[in-house]
Amino acid sequence: MEYYYRLTLLSFWVFIILCNHNKCFGCLEKERIALLELKNSREWDPISSYDPLSTWDDKKEFDCCVWERVGCNNTTRQVIQLTLYRAFRSDIGYLNASLFLPFEELQYLDLSDNRLTDLEGLDRLSKLKKLHFLDLEGNHFNNSILPSLGTLTSLKTLNLSGTDICKGSLTQGNISLLAKLVIVDWKSSSKLKVLYLGYNNFSRGIPPSIFTLNSLQALSLVGSYLNGPISYGLCELKNLRDLDLSKNEFEGILPPCFNNLTSLKAVDLRGNQVYIPSSLISNLKSLEFIALSGNQFDGGLPFTSPLKSLSSQLKFLDMSNCNLNMSTTDLLKFLHNQYDLRYLDISHNNLHGSFPNWLVENNTRLETLVLRNNSLSGNIQLGLVVTLLNYFDISNNHIQGNLQTDIGVVLPQLLYLNLSKNSIEGTLPTSLANMKYLNYLDLSKNSIEGTLPTSLSNLKELDTLDFSNNRFFGGIPESWFLNLKFLISLKLSYNSLSGRIFPGLFNLTSLRVLRLSNNQFIGNLGRIPSNIWIFDISQNQMTDRIPSIDIGKLDYLRTLILRNNSFHGPIPLELCNKSSLEFLDLSNNHLSGIIPSCLNLTSLKYLHLQENKFSGSIPKAILQSSNLITLDLKHNNLSGNISKWFGFLRNLRVLLLKGNRLSGSIPLQLCQLKNISLLDLSHNNLSGSIPPCFGNINFGKIVPGEDVFEKNADVGTGYNHFEYTDLLQMTGMEYMYVDWIYSEEEEVEFMTKSMSGAYKGDILNFLSGIDLSCNQFTGQIPNDIGALTMIMALNLSNNQLTGPIPRTFSKLKHLESMDLSRNKLTGEIPSELTDINTLSVFNVSYNNLSGEVPYMKAQFSTFDENSYKGNPFLCGPPLQKPCKTITESTTVTLARWSASYGMDLISLFASFAASYIMTLAGFVLVLYINPYWRHIWFNFIDTCLSFMFPFWSEAIYKVDNP
Ligand SMILES: *[C@@H]1O[C@H](CO)[C@@H](O)[C@H](O)[C@H]1NC(C)=O
Ligand SMILES: *[C@@H]1O[C@H](CO)[C@@H](O)[C@H](O)[C@H]1NC(C)=O
Ligand SMILES: *[C@@H]1O[C@H](CO)[C@@H](O)[C@H](O)[C@H]1NC(C)=O
Ligand SMILES: *[C@@H]1O[C@H](CO)[C@@H](O)[C@H](O)[C@H]1NC(C)=O
Repeated sequence: MEYYYRLTLLSFWVFIILCNHNKCFGCLEKERIALLELKNSREWDPISSYDPLSTWDDKKEFDCCVWERVGCNNTTRQVIQLTLYRAFRSDIGYLNASLFLPFEELQYLDLSDNRLTDLEGLDRLSKLKKLHFLDLEGNHFNNSILPSLGTLTSLKTLNLSGTDICKGSLTQGNISLLAKLVIVDWKSSSKLKVLYLGYNNFSRGIPPSIFTLNSLQALSLVGSYLNGPISYGLCELKNLRDLDLSKNEFEGILPPCFNNLTSLKAVDLRGNQVYIPSSLISNLKSLEFIALSGNQFDGGLPFTSPLKSLSSQLKFLDMSNCNLNMSTTDLLKFLHNQYDLRYLDISHNNLHGSFPNWLVENNTRLETLVLRNNSLSGNIQLGLVVTLLNYFDISNNHIQGNLQTDIGVVLPQLLYLNLSKNSIEGTLPTSLANMKYLNYLDLSKNSIEGTLPTSLSNLKELDTLDFSNNRFFGGIPESWFLNLKFLISLKLSYNSLSGRIFPGLFNLTSLRVLRLSNNQFIGNLGRIPSNIWIFDISQNQMTDRIPSIDIGKLDYLRTLILRNNSFHGPIPLELCNKSSLEFLDLSNNHLSGIIPSCLNLTSLKYLHLQENKFSGSIPKAILQSSNLITLDLKHNNLSGNISKWFGFLRNLRVLLLKGNRLSGSIPLQLCQLKNISLLDLSHNNLSGSIPPCFGNINFGKIVPGEDVFEKNADVGTGYNHFEYTDLLQMTGMEYMYVDWIYSEEEEVEFMTKSMSGAYKGDILNFLSGIDLSCNQFTGQIPNDIGALTMIMALNLSNNQLTGPIPRTFSKLKHLESMDLSRNKLTGEIPSELTDINTLSVFNVSYNNLSGEVPYMKAQFSTFDENSYKGNPFLCGPPLQKPCKTITESTTVTLARWSASYGMDLISLFASFAASYIMTLAGFVLVLYINPYWRHIWFNFIDTCLSFMFPFWSEAIYKVDNP
């Protein structure tokens, strides 16, 4: 028994000794203690977010090598890697570097994205002889750490991106400090091979000391406010393999000496304004990675010389938006003999010719192909090669024909497929269902027809599906709703889809965006997915009430558009507290009842309730929506006054109350709506006078940058395709992101010119007008209206307005339409109005105007009788009625001439005529009274004529026969 006991004890000790040698128990004890000390050295607020180091002192895990973010050598079990990004979110902001000293074998230290301002005793890390990787990106060090960094001679990779080392005061001193660091401490013996300095501020230029780091193989200065020409100094870095200068403001021509950087494998100049000589590509034979998007080429470009001069195969080519303007035949010449492309982006270059099918066929490892925004035509017709393509964007071209039937067999790896804005026809091939990894499918704006294929429910990974603006008909397959569990965005607008909206829709719990507008769906709304943000079913044939309970459950609802259907009943009270709602459009339905007084829509910006049967007064509750930009209540049965609290809606741009039964006068407080650009109060029973303070309102005088109407931008998904994580080691990294940009396209109907038009999106930023027509307004038109110089439409017709047309109206230099008809205006039409040369509609008919119609200037000569009729005392063309007497008319005309010639022609003509008549009358009188003088006079005339005749005939002969 004792023997066994001793044997066990002995083997235990042997085990301990052996294990201690081979580190069976894991990391060194001192390393374990140091890690715990590191953990305790920082402050962490565990409530606010996830603490990445929280499990470090978990007693069960004695071996710290298995701890998160710790990496050990598999044989020695000593810590060699510490990945401590976002681990020290303390406000103290400094860390004692000597905490890392126990890790004698440490090779890799990542301290990125902590909010450190100082690393105390950083120079002591020079004792860690194996430390070759140090990542300090995204901290806020001041430049006091620079000297100590210089002592870390074992470093091969240093990431100082976004560390603000030169933030703000980029003084010469700071630069020289970096220079000193580089020259004195790293010198030529420096082993530094990779230097990341991106996202710092180098607006004063690249620190020259960097050019002395001649062992440097990779340098990143991405996003560092560099400007002007690219420095020749970079050519000193003869060993450079990877150079990233993207996202700067470089200009000018790329230095020719770049042709000497023959080791360059990867060059990234995206997002600069540099002219790139084509010789760059023909000389640098090692290039594999070329990213030049956004820059310009010098015309002829490398496409004349095929890329076969390269010693290796090109892997990455990004030349989007380089103004290449070339054909696919040129592209063929250039990329002939390239078989190993992984990434190709030539979007936005006016690339023409037929779609380069050969590109996909010969580069079987191609993963990303982006050719959007070009003029490619022809079919996509890929031969039977199964490709690795996962990102395929040919949107906005002129691709024609049917999709090839086996497209899903040829492109089975696709994650992203965008063929929108082309001319693709025919039905969808069933093989689409083979693309089982597909996340993103956009075929919108084509002419694809047929029913929606049930088989698409196999695309279980789909998060975005856009088939809008095609010719699909039939219902939405039930199976989609059972299987497409990850769908975030579903857009089927502008098709001919029909049938009911399926209860199954409710199963799509991920769905954020659902757009089904402009189809023929019938029935009631059913249950809406509870996480929805954007729900648009406008322009269908939906009936029944708006389901109150379901609406109440939509906690994230931002856009609800039920426009142009046949919904009836009241607005459900459950809408009252939707604090997330920004866009609500229930217009053109048969909704009735009052507008609920419980409305408390604090985020609401656009409210459309027009063309319904709402009654009662406009509730004060609308005031809660202080961000309101559009309020459209046109064509309802609303009554009561326009309340003075409207003045509180300071952001209001569009107020449309046309066609109700509103009465009372316009409250002066309306003039506080300084941002109003469209105001329509027409067709009501409003009375009183037009407030002169209207002249204080902006009406279109919008400050630039204040555009509140935007084009549609949906919450969607996208890809940040191809990033490289290590400059020396390019790695494809596809990841999907959800795009949170959101803006709903606003549409407003307003009468400008003589037509009522619907204005959409950003155009609304430029539209302005007032319509007060068809009310009972009395009094004079205030002169102050003339201060609304940006206004485009003014309609005051069909009121009881009196007095003259203000001369100040001549200042309305953007006015396109002026309607003052059917009032009781008097006086003349001010001739100054002819200064407005934008007018295309002018109507002053049926008033009591008098005097002559102004017709002298171009715009006014286009208005016909209808503009003026019904004014008994108005005369002159285009009216039939001439102005009273000729003299009067002549006088008027002369008055105009004299005004335009700047002299008193009337008195000139008058005195001339008077003396002429007097002389002639006296002469005739003498001849009549005295027969002798009469005889002499006629003899004299005869003699004169016979004397003159020979001269006359000769002169006339000469003229005829020169
Ligand atoms: C692990 O340690 C052994 C022995 O010291 C060494 O030979 C080996 O290169 C180390 N491995 C790594 C990945 O550092
Ligand atoms: C240690 O071994 C594991 C498992 O074999 C491996 O995943 C890890 O990369 C190795 N670590 C190092 C530093 O070599
Ligand atoms: C390229 O290098 C050669 C030889 O080293 C040199 O003569 C030439 O001037 C360099 N070219 C440029 C543009 O710097
Ligand atoms: C595609 O590859 C084939 C065979 O490898 C070759 O004959 C053809 O010229 C290549 N086409 C292009 C455009 O490179």
